[in-house]
Amino acid sequence: MCGRCHGVKYDKVVAKADISTLKPYLGSIPPDLSQMIKSQGEEYLHKFINDPQKILLGTGMPRVGLTEETEAKVINYLDVVGDPKKEDRGELGKYFILFALVLAFFAYAWKKNEFANAGIEH
Ligand code: HEC
Repeated sequence: MCGRCHGVKYDKVVAKADISTLKPYLGSIPPDLSQMIKSQGEEYLHKFINDPQKILLGTGMPRVGLTEETEAKVINYLDVVGDPKKEDRGELGKYFILFALVLAFFAYAWKKNEFANAGIEH
């Protein structure tokens, strides 16, 4: 439904309608949605999709009438397209914590050794 008016460049989706005919009809050009999840955030999208007029008074974007389920699908899709490395980053976090723990262990061992050499008891 969104693809009637909006393109999603990062997923090679081109709006079905001819953009030049949409401008006079809707008053503005429907923006590309590729990075919308990053620029506006999930909460804004939820509010905007459900009641565009409340957020942008006089906007040409209609209330599309998504169910909770289809809205979740749209937002999830925009999240995957707009931030494809999100899951990889989550994975990386685990390794970073492991690295920090190993580093802390060696730092502690080194400190203990240095203090012992200097004759400081700790
Ligand atoms: C009939 C055409 C049409 C359809 C269908 C449509 N939109 Fe839009 N949309 C627009 C137009 C026009 C704008 C530009 C609004 C403005 O600047 O006033 C817009 C703007 C937006 C924006 C930007 C809001 C902002 O703050 O700049 C988002 C996000 C958006 N649409 C999401 C969607 C999603 C998600 C769907 C499907 C559920 C959808 N649109 C369906 C026409 C449409």
